[in-house]
Amino acid sequence: MSDISRVGVIGGGTMGNGIAHVFAQNGHPVVLVDVDQERLAGAVATIRKNLERQAKKGLIDESEVGQIVDRIEIATDLAAVRGADLVVEAVPEKLELKSDILKQLDDVVGDGILASNTSSISITALAAVTSRPERVIGMHFMNPVPVMKLVEVIRGLQTSDETTRRVMETAAALDKTPVEVNDFPGFVSNRVLMPMINEAVFALMEGVAEPEAIDTVMKLGMNHPMGPLALADLIGLDTCLSILEVLHRDLGDDRYRPCPLLRKYVDAGWHGRKTGRGFYQYG
Ligand code: NAI
Repeated sequence: MSDISRVGVIGGGTMGNGIAHVFAQNGHPVVLVDVDQERLAGAVATIRKNLERQAKKGLIDESEVGQIVDRIEIATDLAAVRGADLVVEAVPEKLELKSDILKQLDDVVGDGILASNTSSISITALAAVTSRPERVIGMHFMNPVPVMKLVEVIRGLQTSDETTRRVMETAAALDKTPVEVNDFPGFVSNRVLMPMINEAVFALMEGVAEPEAIDTVMKLGMNHPMGPLALADLIGLDTCLSILEVLHRDLGDDRYRPCPLLRKYVDAGWHGRKTGRGFYQYG
């Protein structure tokens, strides 16, 4: 059994609302913090909508929807997570921003564990800005969080066995499958996934095939549930670009260089589903 009760989630975007959703659904009191009040309102509305969809499918009882939403408190000030046993940050994939959040959390959160949902940034580096590197860990949920079973649990250089055990148990109690990995750029998931997505974008840029054709080849030929370009749109093209930049810089190998077409789309504000346009257009 997990000994983690109160949970803080920082960032109420694509991932943060899903993370708040699964913790609340599993009985944890949750404080969801975002700098953007509108994002917070949007996050709660998304959580409610997703819970209602689960209720329609018979996965949860209709009466639970309100109770689960009521377990989520929202705030714009980080100090609201004081007293949390675990805080998961899910702010954008920028080292300076995440370091700044970790530093502030170090002051606010007593003995609690600080976890990052980062896709690629060094857990060891994030831990080093705090006074408790043994209690800093990567907790990498997959998108969409309520649906996907995997949590990649990343041990930084100084993460303790105790912290790792508590986080593995907590993830398992959320009905997820935690997998322990070590801290290297992109960990396992994005080290393997992002080069495939990037190669698909190169194939598109070079005119090898249209987006639908590239995705259909990978779906039907490789038995992937989604094609790489549709998946990139789901993840967010800005997030994909940030991850590739980390892989490129930190592994020092040009095979991870981001495709110029990916950069161009991000510059245009085509960030995928969340902005209505990426490799595909969304209604
Ligand atoms: P997003 O852009 O959808 O959401 C980020 C949220 O953080 C926004 O609501 C923003 O207002 C908020 N924020 C920005 N600065 C803040 C601050 N100082 N304090 C509090 N909130 C702040 O980003 P997304 O996609 O949810 O990604 C978050 C993290 O999760 C990133 O590290 C990303 O690499 C990782 N991740 C993303 C996945 C995906 O499929 N999108 C999958 C797995 C991990």
